[in-house]
Amino acid sequence: MTPKSFLLTDEVHRYLLDHTDPIDAVQRDLIDETAALGGISSMQIAPEQGAFMTMLTRLMSVTSAIEIGTFTGYSALAIARGLPPGGTLLCCDVSPEWTDIAKRYWDRAGVSDRIELRLGPALETLQSLPQDPAYDLAFVDADKTGYPAYVQELYPRLRTNGLVILDNVLRGGQVIPGHETNDEDRSMQGLNHALAVDQRFDTVLLPLADGLTFLRKR
Ligand SMILES: C[S@@+](CC[C@H](N)C(=O)[O-])C[C@H]1O[C@@H](n2cnc3c(N)ncnc32)[C@H](O)[C@@H]1O
Repeated sequence: MTPKSFLLTDEVHRYLLDHTDPIDAVQRDLIDETAALGGISSMQIAPEQGAFMTMLTRLMSVTSAIEIGTFTGYSALAIARGLPPGGTLLCCDVSPEWTDIAKRYWDRAGVSDRIELRLGPALETLQSLPQDPAYDLAFVDADKTGYPAYVQELYPRLRTNGLVILDNVLRGGQVIPGHETNDEDRSMQGLNHALAVDQRFDTVLLPLADGLTFLRKR
């Protein structure tokens, strides 16, 4: 059982995948190439989460999206595929090595023209962006202790009704008081607690993959 699906038995997880849109050859190859990197590959989002994010991007008619934490590009591919022609996705990461892999797969999938990659600490990239409500959708999946600052910087840059999605908010169950093992767990605990009463957003935490929080800007 991987942390991506720690709430499900292997059997139920398999069933869920068998009854969701199947991944295509580009996604299969990206999963395989990322798996060859070793344990670090567990950073990649789950396929069912990718399918859900593509659907959500389409349902919301997103034209402008931003991602914090791109790695080898699976989640960015999921968002980019949901964008209409002319839609844009700004990807923020610090790793040229991992995002070089991403770029090859975005090319193969024919979505490179919609994606701009900015390398550097995501907080600096965010702070360099105009404080205009330009984004419909933000996906946050980078350093976990950075999430509070990312939410803070995203807020003015998100349109009303726009959505922030935070990944790994359940930390494999280690957000439960008494189960924390490190600073990332404790930081996520604090953030989850704060967002539950944050009047700027409608907040829903769902048990998909490792837990996703949805923040709709009021
Ligand atoms: C969990 S992975 C992202 C997985 C990706 N969403 C996917 O679907 O494959 C986290 C990524 O955040 C990046 N990262 C970590 N700290 C960062 C920071 N301060 N600024 C920008 N990116 C950062 C890492 O280089 C890594 O690629």
